[in-house]
Amino acid sequence: MTQFPKRLLAGTALAIPLLAGPVLAQSAGGQAAQPNQAPRADSISPRAGIREFQPLGSYPTNTVTNRPFVGPQEGSEGYKTTVAALQRTLTELQQLQLEQKQAHWNVSGTLWLTLHELLQEHYAGTSKYADMVAERLLSIGSSSDGRAHTIVQGSSIPEIPGGYLDDAQVIAWFTNAYKIVGDEIRQSIKDTNEPDPTTSNLLQGVEDGIDKYQWQMRAFVQATPTDRNTGWDLNDNKPIDLPSNTPAGQPPAGQNGTQLNQRK
Ligand SMILES: [Fe+2]
Repeated sequence: MTQFPKRLLAGTALAIPLLAGPVLAQSAGGQAAQPNQAPRADSISPRAGIREFQPLGSYPTNTVTNRPFVGPQEGSEGYKTTVAALQRTLTELQQLQLEQKQAHWNVSGTLWLTLHELLQEHYAGTSKYADMVAERLLSIGSSSDGRAHTIVQGSSIPEIPGGYLDDAQVIAWFTNAYKIVGDEIRQSIKDTNEPDPTTSNLLQGVEDGIDKYQWQMRAFVQATPTDRNTGWDLNDNKPIDLPSNTPAGQPPAGQNGTQLNQRK
């Protein structure tokens, strides 16, 4: 049997009751006091399995009492619209962060270093935007939900393929992903313009950043009057799997003798 030093064992014996105390007190009193209240984002037991099913539904809009009021009227339609718009944006930004890092690590090919560095820049910017959006939720009196299962269940961006990623594949992927997120935020800007202009204004800044990232990816394969630049040369002269929806500034599929925007 393994011999543990006596000092280590003594420390462990002290730590167990210290850790168990608050958890037991919470489970004894907390739930019985408010049996009908909707679950709060922060009320999930840290001991619950992280893959445990969480019921789907509207995003939690916790009631916070004794606070100075800011933002739209709590509980109003405008408030719910604003919370949903911010939460949806947060989820997409977090999904982008995961995919930016995945591609930052695994991108291969002629442009690997350019993309490796560009994606790191995009990741830093996206992290900053995600934090601003999450904290706007807190400012108007709602919790923000950055849990893994919320990102997986709520994001509209497809999952990026695993393994090494071809440089052309990365360009195509993010040209599409940034387009999806940009369009969603544009809609959220309109939705929140009336109930909460401050949120709408904040989202305009986020959209400006995401649109810039979209251009920075699109520019790798964008056709010009002197170079039709299909991007195929980045992929052993095979067509790139770009999305079927045509990003802004890109010639429609079939023009310029390219199938750039057609799925294989
Ligand atoms: Fe890195």
